[in-house]
Amino acid sequence: MNNHQPVSQSQSVRKPWPSAGQGRLLLFLSSSFVVILLGLGFSLYCAPSDNSTVRAPLPCVSQACLKAAAKLSPSADPFSQPCDDLLFTCGTRERQSGKNIIKREEGPGEQTLLRGKRRKATREADRYTFEEAQPSHSVRRAALLELLREVLESAGSGDSAKQKARWFYSSCMDTQAIEKLGSEPVLKLIQKLGGSMASRKWNHFNFNSALSVLMKEYFTFPFFNVYVGRDANSSDHRRYIQLDQPDIQIPVEWKSNKKNSKEKAQDLRNFLLSQVQLLSLLGISLSSTSMHTGHLIQLSSQLARFTRPLLYRLQQQQLYHRMTVKELQAQAPAIDWLGCLRAVFHPLAVGESDTVLLHNLPYIKHMSQTISAYHRNDKFSNCVGTLYTFMILSLLHTLTPALDSRFTEIRRNLSAALGNAEEVVPRWAHCVLQTETVFGEALGNAVRERVGEREAEDLIQTIYSSLESKLAELNLGDDDHAILNKVRSLTPQFSPNIDVMSEKTLDQRYAKVQITEDYFSNYLQSLSLRQQRRNELFMQASEPDILLITPFVTGSEINFPLGMFVPPLFHPSYPRAVNYGALGTLMAKNILHLLLPEMQMRMKTLQAVSECVWSLFGNMTEGPHGFLLPLTLEQQLTVWVEYTALQIALQGYKNSLLKQPQDTSLSGIYHTHLFLTSFVQINCIFVPYHEQLPFEASFLVAAICMNSDLCPESMTCSLNTHKHFKQKC
Ligand SMILES: *[C@@H]1O[C@H](CO)[C@@H](O)[C@H](O)[C@H]1NC(C)=O
Ligand SMILES: *[C@@H]1O[C@H](CO)[C@@H](O)[C@H](O)[C@H]1NC(C)=O
Ligand SMILES: *[C@@H]1O[C@H](CO)[C@@H](O)[C@H](O)[C@H]1NC(C)=O
Repeated sequence: MNNHQPVSQSQSVRKPWPSAGQGRLLLFLSSSFVVILLGLGFSLYCAPSDNSTVRAPLPCVSQACLKAAAKLSPSADPFSQPCDDLLFTCGTRERQSGKNIIKREEGPGEQTLLRGKRRKATREADRYTFEEAQPSHSVRRAALLELLREVLESAGSGDSAKQKARWFYSSCMDTQAIEKLGSEPVLKLIQKLGGSMASRKWNHFNFNSALSVLMKEYFTFPFFNVYVGRDANSSDHRRYIQLDQPDIQIPVEWKSNKKNSKEKAQDLRNFLLSQVQLLSLLGISLSSTSMHTGHLIQLSSQLARFTRPLLYRLQQQQLYHRMTVKELQAQAPAIDWLGCLRAVFHPLAVGESDTVLLHNLPYIKHMSQTISAYHRNDKFSNCVGTLYTFMILSLLHTLTPALDSRFTEIRRNLSAALGNAEEVVPRWAHCVLQTETVFGEALGNAVRERVGEREAEDLIQTIYSSLESKLAELNLGDDDHAILNKVRSLTPQFSPNIDVMSEKTLDQRYAKVQITEDYFSNYLQSLSLRQQRRNELFMQASEPDILLITPFVTGSEINFPLGMFVPPLFHPSYPRAVNYGALGTLMAKNILHLLLPEMQMRMKTLQAVSECVWSLFGNMTEGPHGFLLPLTLEQQLTVWVEYTALQIALQGYKNSLLKQPQDTSLSGIYHTHLFLTSFVQINCIFVPYHEQLPFEASFLVAAICMNSDLCPESMTCSLNTHKHFKQKC
């Protein structure tokens, strides 16, 4: 309505010409013209359409949008090419450019990141789940790490928790200082721990107290792992101390069962070499043929003998075995369990009648026997020396992330020699992960501030209700509404696993943490902080996990974690078309995957849809008389999920436009056009390999656009589409 002002002013300037009456008439005419124009504009906005005569929405000019626009690949625009080109849209060029951070295949890169996460040993055992090994996950995680990096590298002041996180990160990034110190800090530490290794005086070595110190102060678990969690094998919600086999360094049988005996012997030699190299960095020269080294390898392999993969133990019902500390003491007497557990959980009280949960009792018994045997041979002080050296190597393993590159290199070379080459995680990503283990809550808060809660909530609710309508319309069986009922019974929730902590509470929580420029000492502090956090797990609901990137169900809620809402998938300032096209489709896909176990029982409906899409693909590539192999069951599910997710997200976007007609544009593209472009872009660059999808995801755009009126009409096909589209999918 501001337009009235300039109009009447321009009248008054031209005063000489019109008379007062004419002026009033003109004023009336021109203002009604404005009103008409406004009305027209409004009605056009109200009926969102992709007709090119509509005034384009305003461009989005936020930083995030400029960045996204710069990356928007012209070849991702499905309307800039004939529809049949969509069969091949993802050229190799785009695929390459997705590679910059972490390899996308399910490979060591992903595993390294996951392992980085898993090492957070306060993790509850009831999270014993097998993480979906989807290739897209490592890229999504990488995007989340990029966001955390941004938070950590941004400027700040004061000594808030967030600021301490930044200092921690920056000390980790200062590799020059770390290299300069070399082995010095770890040597000092070992000296402080009691035995000067070189002098080999074992007189004062007390096995159980040394073990307690390692576990309590240094979060190092040479002989068994300790954590806190619920009993997943029962419905009670109490938290228990849980004891598990340790992370084994030596190559073990079950990890290399495809290898022949010669290869296994070679693996062992490589392991031996790495241990000798590590000890030599501490100034301890051992030959790989010495007695001491022989004992060391013997001890390592004896301990490893009774370790088993998780799946095996699950099948054998070895997980969550209950007993009291006293019973445990009788079963495995070499360890002073009460003493050790009291030290680990100090200042919490642990009693003899407390229940603990074991995840590999045979291992624990065997470990106890092995240690007793080494103690019995006490007169050969070498044997106790072996236990001690073993513990020091274990500590070294914990400390490696904080040591100079020589230590890391030895470890990496060993992995490579064993045939599981670890990809080099960039230093920044390593430091982000390290910082997250200590300052997860502070980072969670910082990310939450950036995410744009309202926009995220809107997206979640709209996608979820669009999914609900889609499932209702699928007609999954008249007498059985189980799936729909399940969807309706779940309440979608945004990121509930992060407690919103006020800055003040957060700062108090980290008040005692003193971050210096010395990364090694910061890292040591982080180890004792992890010990404290583990104690808190007895009281707290669960540890916040800000690295989660897929939705999960708890009770009657379906939760969408914070880590999903990161650029380039989502930004509060992006045009909604981008958020729906990119994250919206992924979200719908994730939810469908969660429901899939139940959907499979309604396979007929899914089959019909996927076969229709597949026949469409066949008609476009092979002609109507071409022959395509039938889809496997898994492919059918994948095709159905991808196709349905795209429909759900697109319908969700349309619904959102009805409620709130304005949206912005990016690179001159907007609305459905931008939605589909974002979808293609994300699928080409971000989710490049669908193991099961038999065609490029961009083909789905053609499939949907030719089959419905959801798309702009400007899609042209060089083939005669009517011949190919005999039916609606
Ligand atoms: C877990 O529960 C099942 C069934 O209740 C039982 O058969 C099994 O022995 C339990 N496992 C352990 C390790 O207690
Ligand atoms: C690790 O492997 C690289 C490449 O094979 C080699 O150059 C380097 O010397 C090795 N480092 C150690 C400590 O063995
Ligand atoms: C593909 O072509 C065949 C033969 O003309 C036809 O029966 C079928 O319906 C077509 N598929 C689609 C999805 O239109």
